[in-house]
Amino acid sequence: MIQTATETESCDNRSTRPDETVLRASDLNVYYGDDRALRSIDMAIPERKVTALIGPSGCGKSTFLRSINRMNDLIDVARVEGELYFHGKNVYDDDVDPVALRRKIGMVFQKPNPFPKSIFDNVAYGLEVQGTTDDVDIDERVERALKNAALWNEVEDRLDESGLELSGGQQQRLCIARAIAPDPEVILMDEPASALDPVATSKVEDLIEELAEEYTVVIVTHNMQQAARISNKTAVFLTGGELVEFGDTNEIFENPDHDRVEDYITGKFG
Ligand SMILES: Nc1ncnc2c1ncn2[C@@H]1O[C@H](COP(=O)(O)OP(=O)(O)OP(=O)(O)O)[C@@H](O)[C@H]1O
Ligand SMILES: [Mg+2]
Repeated sequence: MIQTATETESCDNRSTRPDETVLRASDLNVYYGDDRALRSIDMAIPERKVTALIGPSGCGKSTFLRSINRMNDLIDVARVEGELYFHGKNVYDDDVDPVALRRKIGMVFQKPNPFPKSIFDNVAYGLEVQGTTDDVDIDERVERALKNAALWNEVEDRLDESGLELSGGQQQRLCIARAIAPDPEVILMDEPASALDPVATSKVEDLIEELAEEYTVVIVTHNMQQAARISNKTAVFLTGGELVEFGDTNEIFENPDHDRVEDYITGKFG
């Protein structure tokens, strides 16, 4: 049964309007060679919200995240069956250009990975690699991305310094700036704070909540408190690549339908 958040009833009050679905997996299966890493996933991800993916190591969270912007294409043995709709268009259709798709659906990784380039060039790279430099003011776009990534105040006087000279937390916000520079709609984050200290983690968490005002955020985290704090929706994957429960974060954490989910959330296994 597909849980879809989109209903087309009209309503003037934005806060009571049903969530718009921006991404929808339908019977999505991912294999690595003969091994199935994801089993028939159905999930509707709402626009401009934070959706958290949680579950024990090896349950397929990163695989699911990568299937959204076709990063699994880059893994030779990976094979996808089923559909993944972005605004109703299956991203696995033959006429979809994965590079253009990744311009709309950006990604931030676990370990901050700035390039050995200046802070400015790290963010400008996000524009150049996506081929969006025609007719745009790069200085302005870089500044905007750094502001949106809550890093501008810390780096505005040192844009020519290497990105590698920043602290880990600043590097991660730099990578977030690089991801949002091309103005994507969706930002995928794979454990973006797990390599950071508590102060940097809290900054990145605040930033994620802010980003959700403008972008759809899908985040993998091993940190239950983090999922509970910052996400609106939570998807719980369990071993074997099964999506066991998906729903409002409050409900998942306070009153999950499945005992296995409750056991996982309360730390009985995983
Ligand atoms: N490149 C790959 N080649 C072959 N198998 C892979 C590859 N990447 C992942 N897998 C397998 O797919 C399954 C799901 O892996 P995935 O990395 O998606 O899990 P995860 O939930 O992100 O785990 P973790 O929390 O440890 O990051 C695992 O059994 C893993 O061994
Ligand atoms: Mg992972």
